[in-house]
Amino acid sequence: MADDSSKKPVTALNTLDLLAMKQRGEKISCLTAYDASFSAMIEQAGIDVILVGDSLGMVIQGHDSTLPVSLSDMVYHTRCVANARQRALIIADLPFMTYPTPLEAAQSAARLIREGGAQVVKLEGARLDCVEFLTSRGISVCGHLGLLPQSINQLGRYSVQGKSIPEAENILHDALALERAGISLLVLECVPADLGRNISRQLKVPVIGIGAGIDCDGQVLVIYDMLNIGTRKYAKFSKDFLTDAGSIAGALADFHLAVKEKRFPTLEQSYS
Ligand code: KIV
Repeated sequence: MADDSSKKPVTALNTLDLLAMKQRGEKISCLTAYDASFSAMIEQAGIDVILVGDSLGMVIQGHDSTLPVSLSDMVYHTRCVANARQRALIIADLPFMTYPTPLEAAQSAARLIREGGAQVVKLEGARLDCVEFLTSRGISVCGHLGLLPQSINQLGRYSVQGKSIPEAENILHDALALERAGISLLVLECVPADLGRNISRQLKVPVIGIGAGIDCDGQVLVIYDMLNIGTRKYAKFSKDFLTDAGSIAGALADFHLAVKEKRFPTLEQSYS
């Protein structure tokens, strides 16, 4: 066991700090984590945000989608991550069908915050009713647009969204509506880089991209993807940081710096 007696107290980030980062043009780094060990290493690398994503259904539990993940799974993994939290803001996903109504969204969010230790909850789609209900009760919400993994059975496959002009206009329209409803952050997944740029410029709140181009206000990757752990088909928008760095700590530090210095993603990891 490592000795943690040298731990210095640090000030934890909140959503206003992330807003200030966007306003001064500083990129926001974010990785997913599902346990205390990765959470601690992410903290050591100085990464700004930890997303406890329902992607855990695929990378931890071995399902072929995020749909089987339960609220109790999310609470458990969020608590594991929060136990090693020092500075990073923790966002936790509301899993599939845990926010069918605003009231159920509030009950689910309360568990992620109270039992899990999350600061922000994330939900997929233009659920303005839930966002308004939660934010008017003091809960910070992160939106999620573009590719919506919880809608995989409607989408048919995990693919780039917003390629046609009407689709792109719909996503922009939803992003602006979510901002008006009160979100503090937006995750934008798998959209053309031009759309990522346009939405990031039009929104006041920070936009964290995954496969949404270099011009988003921040970047998020699934930690198992950027370490190339597992047998998942490699996504175009991801990058293997471990092979170059040679250690997990090095890979996390390189990712953080590459985001801050606007060296990740490149055109190679972007959609047109
Ligand atoms: O669940 C997750 O990890 C996510 C990211 C892919 C953005 O929502």
